[in-house]
Amino acid sequence: MKIDLIFSATDIKREEVKNKAVVVIDTLRATSTIITALAQGCSKVIPVAEIKEARKLSKNLKKDCLLAGERQGIKIDGFDLGNSPRDYTAKKVAGKVIVLTTTNGTQCFKRLIETEEILVASLLNVEQVSARLESKKEVVFCCAGVAGQFALDDFITAGKIIAELVAESEVSLSDRALVAYQTYLQNKNGLRSILKRSQSGRNLISLGKEGDIDYIVEHQKDYLPYYENGEIK
Ligand code: MLT
Repeated sequence: MKIDLIFSATDIKREEVKNKAVVVIDTLRATSTIITALAQGCSKVIPVAEIKEARKLSKNLKKDCLLAGERQGIKIDGFDLGNSPRDYTAKKVAGKVIVLTTTNGTQCFKRLIETEEILVASLLNVEQVSARLESKKEVVFCCAGVAGQFALDDFITAGKIIAELVAESEVSLSDRALVAYQTYLQNKNGLRSILKRSQSGRNLISLGKEGDIDYIVEHQKDYLPYYENGEIK
């Protein structure tokens, strides 16, 4: 299996993802929120890039739809939910369609064209993702990053999935994938601490959302979301 990695949503190039299994990662927090929402029984998540587009879509869908998302980590005015996975309880989301727009995470999906398949990952579902990838020939991790820049939380999550794949299969790692793997190995006993020191971690702490980091490090969800035709299920 050949494994590559893309540092941020804005770096995604069509030829780098074409016909490959793609794994979208925004551990702090968009993909953690998506995994939690689906594991709690929401019927699907529709990721959209712009706030205006999200409002329009939710109006069209009307009932059974929740409008969710953030900008700079803060819930958008008038939206039902922000981007804190802990707020996505079964009571709130079961049976609902969630239209989600976030600063970086939801920006990845519209750029992924002609892929073999698209999986949604975070530290919450590493085992499910790696089990699915074992039979693949070419895998690309698409880290959401922050504003076009590398983000450690996504990178280290990719490294953890790569570590599972290295243990189970013959792999050939690009230099970017190799560094993600090594970074994970160096920090595997202190994931909570390194996430809290990362830029996204520090931002969440400053917003009073440190508990989201603890939740993401401590929990495992038995759910592997797929993105297809504009929807995540
Ligand atoms: C994003 O998509 O930029 C993040 O998930 C931001 C956040 O943590 O709310």
